[in-house]
Amino acid sequence: MHLMVIRFMNTALPGNNKDTKQATDLRNREQDLFALENYINDIWHFLPIPVAYLNPLGVILDVSRSLEDLLHVKKEELVGGTLLGLFTEQEKMKQIQHLTLARNQVSNHECVIRNKDGDRIPVNVSTLIRKDETGDAIGFFVALVDISQRLAAEQALSLSETQYRSTLNSIGDGIHVIDSDLRIVMINEALRARLRDLGVDIEPLGRLVHEVMSYLPKDVSAEYLDIFRKGELLMTEETVKCGDKEFVSEVRKIPIFDGDKVGQVVTVIHDITARKREEQIKTVLYKISNEVNVAQDLNELFGAIRDNLGMIIDTKNFFVALRDKDSRSISLAYLEDEEDDSRSLPPGKTLTSYVIEHNHPLLVTDNDIRQMKRAGQIDTISSPAKVWLGVPLRLKNEVVGALVVQNYNDPNVYTRKDLEILEFVSEQVAAAIERKRTDEEVKLNFQRLKKTSTSIIFTMAKILELRDPYTAGHQQRVARLACAIAREMGLTEDQVEGIFMAALIHDIGKIYVPAEILNRPAKLNETEMELVKTHPSIGYDIVKEIDFAQPVDRMIVQHHERINGSGYPKGIDHGDIIQEARILAVADVVEAMASHRPYRPALSIDEALCEIDRCRDTLYDSHVVDACMKIFRDNHFKFD
Ligand SMILES: [Fe+2]
Repeated sequence: MHLMVIRFMNTALPGNNKDTKQATDLRNREQDLFALENYINDIWHFLPIPVAYLNPLGVILDVSRSLEDLLHVKKEELVGGTLLGLFTEQEKMKQIQHLTLARNQVSNHECVIRNKDGDRIPVNVSTLIRKDETGDAIGFFVALVDISQRLAAEQALSLSETQYRSTLNSIGDGIHVIDSDLRIVMINEALRARLRDLGVDIEPLGRLVHEVMSYLPKDVSAEYLDIFRKGELLMTEETVKCGDKEFVSEVRKIPIFDGDKVGQVVTVIHDITARKREEQIKTVLYKISNEVNVAQDLNELFGAIRDNLGMIIDTKNFFVALRDKDSRSISLAYLEDEEDDSRSLPPGKTLTSYVIEHNHPLLVTDNDIRQMKRAGQIDTISSPAKVWLGVPLRLKNEVVGALVVQNYNDPNVYTRKDLEILEFVSEQVAAAIERKRTDEEVKLNFQRLKKTSTSIIFTMAKILELRDPYTAGHQQRVARLACAIAREMGLTEDQVEGIFMAALIHDIGKIYVPAEILNRPAKLNETEMELVKTHPSIGYDIVKEIDFAQPVDRMIVQHHERINGSGYPKGIDHGDIIQEARILAVADVVEAMASHRPYRPALSIDEALCEIDRCRDTLYDSHVVDACMKIFRDNHFKFD
């Protein structure tokens, strides 16, 4: 390397010296040069970078030890040759061109060389041209740096990056990452797709988050700034409208720390629209089931069903069709329609009659409807609907009608899921119709029975009136007074009605007591009294087989019982005497005292009231006494 050093330094040796000082200087300079040469030799050989020095023709003049190590070749084998033999065939030309170009500049590029063993080694080739003072090239340094480790690291990083992106893109949740400038630095495919659905047509990467999420009705920037400041995870539920549709998402914003500061925020957007809809469907169906139990009539129920159902499917146009069992004609029991308010269906084969006849649900668009008409399945298109959805109403095994929704504008407004929902609702409606029919039958039977019972009572009262007009008049007046007391005491109208009927015939048992005893204007003997005292029991026996809604028989048998147990026929006391009988007892006594009897003159009303007041809590129920006195004194009750 001695000569090389001299060339590198571009320095000529001095000529002959004439004086000692010059000779000394020369020796010193030679020594300096020798030291420098050794120094450079050391650096050259211990240089960690593999380097070759080439003459302008590309012939290798020297190589560093590290190049020997890299190529597994001794210096002696390399010097005098060229570097081109190291490069692969493909790379040779590139390298030649590169060396040519490099004559005027420092350059570097990456390529692959082979060592003596044939191993491929990726290297970074740096070339430095050396020039003399005239600018001519006098040699090249060529450094070949092994970059296999760096490339391997880069490949590993690239693979890791690919795996990371593949993983993010395979996740169904929308994910994006923003930096502390609130710019989106990463976004996955799921979120890109969602943004496209929402009409966001800008490239999100590098954009401020509020520019991309401008569809959100809130200040997202403020929300993110807060997370960067506090470093706390934030979970929210976001609802976004897209046309007629609504998306609900569960959004998690997760701070990612860089040291003790939040460096980025990862946002994960999990779509819960389907889950929310399922929850809403359950709630609505529960409400509808409940309505079936509480609705007073079918019209009210249908209205409630339409309102509740409207929360999950389109019910702007909703009707319930019922088929008459005998005539087979179909009528609309309920109708809400934007375009048609006629409560009848056209005659012939319609979509509704098709659903009923075939006992099968139908979800059809306007095209399907036209096809059905061409196929003769229906013979009239009664509805200009874009989509029509009907399900049969089944009562036990019989189809009694259909439940129908339709839309005049959007053919995509209903799905198969909506059909299932409507089928569930139709079961509820059918159950309600069944219950309503049963209720009506019970009500009808009850009304018939009530009419029959009332007729019997009036007939009995008439019979008694024919035989004993005096008692008949008494019973009618007692009935009026007893009903007035009962109402004053707050009894129900059904109870008042029961008291009225019992009072009208409470002495019906006297039909078995000879008239001369009843009408005798003198005190009766003990035997006669005992005979008269049988009339409550006889009255009971007469009416006990009649199926009254109220306990008319017990009122009759107990109307002479007294609360201290001193009455007849059984001598029962307060706790065993029913309230209606206690009322009847007071009304009976007051009317009797205020009326003329063959064996005594009539008392005044005040005298009669004083008497019952005197006997309150002994013979008579004090509540009944109070009510009786009140209606006479405050309400001015009068017998005719
Ligand atoms: Fe009586």
